[in-house]
Amino acid sequence: MNTIATGWRPQSGHVEAAVEDGVLLLTINRPDKKNAITGAMYTDLADGLDFADANDAVRAVLISGRGGSFTAGNDLADFLNNPSAAENPPGPRFIHRLRTLETPLVAAVSGHAVGIGSTLLLHCDFVFADETARFQFPFIKLALVQEAGASLLLPQRAGRLLAAELLMLGEPFDAEVALTAGLVGEVVGEGDAYDSALARARHLAEKPAAALRAMKRLLRQPDAEALQKIMDAELACFRERLASAEAREVFTAFLEKRKPDFSKLV
Ligand code: COA
Repeated sequence: MNTIATGWRPQSGHVEAAVEDGVLLLTINRPDKKNAITGAMYTDLADGLDFADANDAVRAVLISGRGGSFTAGNDLADFLNNPSAAENPPGPRFIHRLRTLETPLVAAVSGHAVGIGSTLLLHCDFVFADETARFQFPFIKLALVQEAGASLLLPQRAGRLLAAELLMLGEPFDAEVALTAGLVGEVVGEGDAYDSALARARHLAEKPAAALRAMKRLLRQPDAEALQKIMDAELACFRERLASAEAREVFTAFLEKRKPDFSKLV
């Protein structure tokens, strides 16, 4: 194994990074919170993608989560305490970085993949999920809307009706449904997602990198403009919803471990 110093270090304490055999391993490591992502963690992840594109030694990126979860999505306490975080990067910066990333991106999903944990998969080139994976677009339950271009990419993959079901009901779903919805490329046995994804990332790292990047650019090109537009529209709507009394009641209720009560809201 050939490990190189990345020359860049994640700062949040909850994201790990290493380059091995041409693969940047980006690992979310906050298992006590099911790998929920804070602003500082988004910054690390976005910086990691910058690092990948800027370094010839990185020929593929593998994103995964430690401790039995991929990620439980955006940290809900962050949503409550820093609503302006949605106006200013890091969350949106990470999401837009996914849209423009040139290096091939592989994901390994075990356990919870909620919110951004599911929408980010729409930007991956290869996604491996094991039988423990539980996906969810929880936005309606949070009184929010979808993000990361899911308005365009999910109906393209899943078809309009399944996309509507997954988004408008917001219920969790398993790896087989994720496969049908085009969110996952391969379902593997319990505990095998990481090794399968790593093998694919290493395989990609052996291929001619410039040709792979050109291929990725071309695959995106037909929808590039539409994707940027819809992502901007989603973000504007998301910010509006985030500041709503409905959404704030949901976040507060989650942190207070109770059901939301909308009866007093006008
Ligand atoms: N933000 C902040 N904290 C979170 C979190 C999130 N998105 N997801 C989980 N946590 C925290 C819990 O508050 C809990 O913290 P505590 O131990 O200090 O009380 C800890 O992680 C474990 O979560 P818990 O709910 O007990 O685990 P679970 O296995 O019963 O359920 C989930 C896991 C992911 C289904 C559940 O935690 C959940 O629904 N999380 C919210 C997901 C979400 O809506 N994300 C936002 C997407 S935009």
